[in-house]
Amino acid sequence: MFQIPRGTRDFTPKEMDKRRYVEESMKKTFTTFGYREIQTPLFEHLELFTAKSGEGIVDELYSFEDKSGRQLALRPELTAPVIRFYVDRLQMEPKPLKLCYFGNCFRYDRPQKGRYREFWQAGCEIIGTNTAEAYAELIALAYYILKNVGVQQIQLCIGNLTILSSIFTQFHLSEEDQKKLTPLIDKAQYDEVSLVLEQLGVDQQKIHEFLDVLQTSDTKKIQQQIKGDAAAEKEFIFLETVLDFLKHSFHINDYQIKLSIVRGLDYYSGLVFEIDAPVLGAEKQLCGGGVYELLSLFGGTPTSTAGFAIGFDRTILALETEQFSFPSRHIDVYIIPVNEDMIPIALEIAYDLRKEGIVVDIDLLRRGVGKSLKYANSVQATKAILVGPKELEKQALTLRNLETGEQHIVPRKKIVSTLQQ
Ligand code: HAM
Repeated sequence: MFQIPRGTRDFTPKEMDKRRYVEESMKKTFTTFGYREIQTPLFEHLELFTAKSGEGIVDELYSFEDKSGRQLALRPELTAPVIRFYVDRLQMEPKPLKLCYFGNCFRYDRPQKGRYREFWQAGCEIIGTNTAEAYAELIALAYYILKNVGVQQIQLCIGNLTILSSIFTQFHLSEEDQKKLTPLIDKAQYDEVSLVLEQLGVDQQKIHEFLDVLQTSDTKKIQQQIKGDAAAEKEFIFLETVLDFLKHSFHINDYQIKLSIVRGLDYYSGLVFEIDAPVLGAEKQLCGGGVYELLSLFGGTPTSTAGFAIGFDRTILALETEQFSFPSRHIDVYIIPVNEDMIPIALEIAYDLRKEGIVVDIDLLRRGVGKSLKYANSVQATKAILVGPKELEKQALTLRNLETGEQHIVPRKKIVSTLQQ
């Protein structure tokens, strides 16, 4: 027996129905916000991902050498591929350029519920604008994608790396210290943050203040902390404008400011945000994104870039945990030839109905009326057509409602219109 590779999954037809429902709903919301879909390859040159993050990231990737000795990697995310594509072919497109994508990603993660080695992302990048309304719209898009899909409980947290960096400076923490601290802050391991600060000789009072400002959602406290740092103050005013747009133009009030949102990836530069589904427990982050800089590194003409990605698999887990009732796909009609002579006519009827877009299945096992009706019920067909010689003599068919058990004779010519009613 062959085993499925660790951290990957097969999807049953029922699971695929759910996934397609979520995908279609997300696509619809992207479209209503003016985004157009693109696709990039499943694997890229390894360097695309190490360029910003360094060789250290290789441990987290599926990388390999191909038959010609090229170093390649399965994509762990889609932002770097999209920016590569943009630099290569899309730089001349009118701005802002709004691109969205759906695709599987691969990370050599430790698998657990909500964390896989192959998982799917629905994401987008907006290129060529840095206005407050553009960033507010981006955050609103992520928020409404999840709301429109049907997730009820979400938590939107917004941070800012420029402001955070100013706070690091206020606490006299060098770049080296920051590198040590950010992964711990990212994972909300505040005891360890405290320990590192102690080792760096920061006194208890200061440690307390530092942890407080990281976790507070009181913007006044944050503003107080960055006083005198012109760049951070400017960024703070900009952040307030983004929040104003979110509240008054996009009708989103349920957000929290959190400077501890640092994002795991290395390319972010200013505004960052995450959306969690608290029902999921440990792996609750549904979405992550923000403003980033990759263009200059990839040889493009510098312009503003921002985006986000939503974890598709976790969105489905959140919906399931909240007992969301997914729309079920069903068979409109199941056709049963009552004997072998009726098979050609039954197939012809199936052909006619499918041409009209009706979802049809037909008995392909010659198993007789009783067993076929049982099967039709088990696949949740709503109606059945019995094709029998007596009715056919009069150019008619028996149409049975499988929910009520009622049946009546319908002229063959009227079967399409009757089913479409
Ligand atoms: P990320 O936070 O690494 O961001 O991933 C986005 C989302 O993908 C996460 O919030 C999570 O829901 C899902 N995800 C990540 N890893 C796994 C996994 N192992 N199993 C299941 N789901 C997972 C990015 O990838 C950035 N490229 C987002 C972005 C786009 N930033 C700017 N533009």
